[in-house]
Amino acid sequence: MIRSNISCLLVCLAACGLNAQDGNTDRRAEPIVGLPCEDCEAVFEGLPDSLTSIAKIGPNDEPGERMHIRGTVRDEHGNTISGVIVYAYHTNASGLYPLNDDFKGRSAYRHGQLRGWAISDDQGKFGFDTIRPAGYPDSDLPAHVHMHVIEVGRCTYYIDDIMFDDDPRLTRQQRQRFSFGRGGSGFVSPTRDQSGIWMVTRDIVLGEKIPGYPKRAEQGDPPKSPSESNDSANAIKLTPEQKNLSFFVGTWELSVEGVEKKGHAEIQPILGGRFITEDVKLPFGDFDMEWHGVIGHNEGKKQYSGIWFDNADNTTHSSSGEADESGRVITFRGEQVGIGKFIW
Ligand SMILES: [Fe+2]
Repeated sequence: MIRSNISCLLVCLAACGLNAQDGNTDRRAEPIVGLPCEDCEAVFEGLPDSLTSIAKIGPNDEPGERMHIRGTVRDEHGNTISGVIVYAYHTNASGLYPLNDDFKGRSAYRHGQLRGWAISDDQGKFGFDTIRPAGYPDSDLPAHVHMHVIEVGRCTYYIDDIMFDDDPRLTRQQRQRFSFGRGGSGFVSPTRDQSGIWMVTRDIVLGEKIPGYPKRAEQGDPPKSPSESNDSANAIKLTPEQKNLSFFVGTWELSVEGVEKKGHAEIQPILGGRFITEDVKLPFGDFDMEWHGVIGHNEGKKQYSGIWFDNADNTTHSSSGEADESGRVITFRGEQVGIGKFIW
């Protein structure tokens, strides 16, 4: 009986195991490092499926002076890094976080309405078009923009707030108080462009002064810039289908239809992103099923292919499939011959 159910589970795995959209699996937060980090999980609440390198925060008619934040993401060696998600939120021109009832009861509620996400481009550049925030009313705290980094498939953490050199509240004492150097310095010197828009630059150094930041060699690299890749004699040029695999990288909570408890999945890139590995554990009645898989795209057959093996038997299971237009849902089909024959 158990064997039969497990086989059915494999069917579900093949059909449901690679779905980067809401559905049977939900994207779960990357591990939070640099603790303590109050409300850090809020960075994933409302995170859009589609991101741009320049994100807009707030509506066009948001009261306040317009401000453009620009920056470049680099690693500890100074290499520009693409594909890093930067999250920012701040007060309005009255120094308040205007609450968003859509997130009532969730961590993001306290982050207010003026929040957004940008993803670093091929040159590591990102930015936010927003308004200049004010400091809290009846407070001596300097005005600030909260900033977080999400390194997809690796970790997330907050970095030093943006604070403004021309803010009268940013006294020498306050500067010392808020100078942690997380992700590099957050102090910026605002200037105005020809149209009067405030311009500030907040560059980011990944992992800088972040306790518990994972070493890259241990946990797989995030996407690298072309310039960095070209430095290598083994520079990898991924196909669009291979790039789709990065959608699935990360830590996931796994639900399988007919199985009461939820499981846990870790998906990591290997060989420069050509393939991904899947390590899964799922409580299945009184049996903890575990499986491991490798998934890639077969350029010759124009199909995704995967191979899995588990702790339920001594055979391997393979299947192939196609992605939908978004590239975020891959449906596998295959056949397993064991105790009985299963087709999915
Ligand atoms: Fe704040």
